Amino acid sequence: MNTPKSSRLPGFFRRTLKERIALVAELASLSADETATLTTGGLTSAQADTMIENAIGLYALPMGAAANFTINGRDVLVPMVIEEPSVLAAVSNAARLFRAGGGFTAESDEPVMIGQIQVLDVADPQAALIALRREEASLLDAVNQGGGGIQRAGGGARGIEARLLSDTPAGPMLIVHLLYDTRDAMGANAVNTAVERVAPEIEAITGGRVNLRILSNLADRRKARARGVIPHAELATDERSGPEVVQSILEAWSFAAADPYRAATHNKGIMNGIDALVMATGNDWRAVEAGAHAYAARNGRYTSLTRYWQDERGNLCAEIELPLALGVVGGATRIHPTAQIALKILGNPSARELAEIAAAVGLAQNLAAIRALAVEGIQHGHMRMHARQIAMAAGAAPDQVAAIAQQMIDEQQIRPERARAIVEGLKGR
Ligand code: MEV
Repeated sequence: MNTPKSSRLPGFFRRTLKERIALVAELASLSADETATLTTGGLTSAQADTMIENAIGLYALPMGAAANFTINGRDVLVPMVIEEPSVLAAVSNAARLFRAGGGFTAESDEPVMIGQIQVLDVADPQAALIALRREEASLLDAVNQGGGGIQRAGGGARGIEARLLSDTPAGPMLIVHLLYDTRDAMGANAVNTAVERVAPEIEAITGGRVNLRILSNLADRRKARARGVIPHAELATDERSGPEVVQSILEAWSFAAADPYRAATHNKGIMNGIDALVMATGNDWRAVEAGAHAYAARNGRYTSLTRYWQDERGNLCAEIELPLALGVVGGATRIHPTAQIALKILGNPSARELAEIAAAVGLAQNLAAIRALAVEGIQHGHMRMHARQIAMAAGAAPDQVAAIAQQMIDEQQIRPERARAIVEGLKGR
């Protein structure tokens, strides 16, 4: 992975769009073409037409860069694609707080995905389970005869596991899991090909009838974890001491840990960050969402994907763990020109490094949200961005937006009619 000189970019958000692009281009050594692609959005309608059926055009979203991340001792600028205001500012601010505690440490599992094979009408399930164990090596060989890019890169079938679901609406069924190392790919296609390939052998070994053969999005063999510490003094505000804020954050997290209604929103905030990075890199955010929420419910009660505690000095410690099935080769990652640039801005990470960055981003986004909620309420920052959007929609020129937004905030009148009146007034002058 290549590392930019520093991701600590004070005042990045105050720069103009042009200045920000130039800075990121310099830090990531983007070519003139790549830099230009950032402003056009990259994808052409012709490319869109090859990506999906019935294409009728393109749909653009803003891409930003989150600053201040340092992960495993390396600085990284994080490209994020998202329509929601405040996410980039919040995550960059949280990354700065974690940076004060030495940055994030992150790690990830081998990129092993699970392919499922549903086997019905098995006369003797216990005998079938034993036979599957006995034949594991030959089944793996059969899958690995398939060849392909992932196998050339050192991936391929790694193991077979089976479970009996004795009580389903369709009666008992045997579920066979094929564990498949997809290396730098997300790997859905390779896994689906592999389970389809091996299904006849599974029927022969179990004496059953195969129905579904498909990847599982609960990619719990492919998890990433990130951890960080924030010195309590960094959390102090004008009104409250660092330890008081730490206490409020621990209470906020406890709420999510204990209550699924709160955990859903808490985890949504985590996914604000992760999805935005997943989108920027052309990965399948629905797959990542499905895996994250299923993992959050793994013990039978939906709960928080993060954990917070205090160290002996009263500093805030935080960690996250979730499945992250992300690729850096294949799929939209390969086709979408902006996804390629996003990977370059990230320093061309491996799939595992990308998952580690995503975990750190999720943790930072979560800290940002619960800190804001516990300290000042979330509307404080949101209203500023909301006011800017209303000013823009009312026809304010780009250089008028900030001042009009500020005027509406000062007047406590953040409304389209007020924005239109101010814009008209400025035109009249
Ligand atoms: C809004 O998009 C996300 C938050 O609701 C997350 C949270 O409540 O933790 C702010």
